[in-house]
Amino acid sequence: MTTSTAVRTDRHLTDDDLADALHRDVLRGLTAMPKALPPKYFYDARGSELFEQITRLPEYYPTRTERAILGAYADEIAKLSGADTLVELGSGSSEKTRLLLDAMGSTGSLRRYVPVDVSESALAGAVRGLRPDYPDLAMHVVVADFDRHLHLLPQDGTRLVAFLGGTVGNLVPAERARFLRRIRAQLRDGDALLLGTDLVKDPARLVAAYDDAAGVTAEFNRNVLHVVNRELDADFVPDRFAHVAFWDAANERIEMRLRSEDARAVHVRALDLTVRFDRDEQMRTETSAKFRRDGVERELADAGLRLASWWTDPEGDFALSLSVPV
Ligand code: SAH
Ligand code: AVI
Repeated sequence: MTTSTAVRTDRHLTDDDLADALHRDVLRGLTAMPKALPPKYFYDARGSELFEQITRLPEYYPTRTERAILGAYADEIAKLSGADTLVELGSGSSEKTRLLLDAMGSTGSLRRYVPVDVSESALAGAVRGLRPDYPDLAMHVVVADFDRHLHLLPQDGTRLVAFLGGTVGNLVPAERARFLRRIRAQLRDGDALLLGTDLVKDPARLVAAYDDAAGVTAEFNRNVLHVVNRELDADFVPDRFAHVAFWDAANERIEMRLRSEDARAVHVRALDLTVRFDRDEQMRTETSAKFRRDGVERELADAGLRLASWWTDPEGDFALSLSVPV
């Protein structure tokens, strides 16, 4: 019989905490001009599952491309980092992470995996998937918001902090600068940051990746309205909001928006708020920045991090970078 090492769980997000943040963010977003909702609220159990479906779509190249880069370079990453602890922010299903866990395991250094996510359902699914294959690996699961709880992450050991998938692009520049500075403040000599960034490319491919033919991304986008309806007793009619994927060339980012097909009032009873939408009014639900190497290097440097290695796929669609504190 095999016994497995216990899984420790830290919850930095209580239900009350989550509810307070949602109240605050939705009130701010729906009363702003133009209206906007933060992307972290996509990821309830249904949203996390829809994201997993997105990763398998033919148009959505980032996941399989990043997996291929990890397949080619995980051993090199493991050797360069020498870390005994892999902390992964926004870990989701942790599927690609297996490549890193295997590589770090084969150098003999790996002791612990720390997946960090706002989505408890994604974390639970990830642990269920990993346990049978990594029975001896200590797992320390952290339910947390990487916008607010970076200082509460485990401090001991030599850490490789991975932030994969291009999720850093879902932060707007000011949020990104603050996030990278906070990461830098957490890193000690010997620690490193492994960052996945989607790269600028043909806008037609970018738009297709965010507006797939099967409509999965549209459903993922509308899921934020289901979340607000359920959590804040609102009466959005999700099917009356059309999915929009817009390439903002000036800022080199995809914006996902929801376009109201009607003029209507939406009641958000938990906030005692009525919001009016004009017909065709668009509300921003996510930005997904696309990067160039010099921009990544500059943003890292501004945060006190030195770009040490840069890996891409042969087409230059996606990049992984390893950076260290200066
Ligand atoms: N890293 C995975 C998942 C990417 S999807 C991959 O590359 O496939 C983005 C993940 O980040 C989701 O699991 C979502 O729940 C999580 N997430 C989004 N905003 C977050 C936040 N503010 N704090 C912590 N996790 C967040
Ligand atoms: C998680 N994040 C990197 C995804 C992205 O590509 O920006 C979320 C996503 N939005 C639409 N499709 C996927």
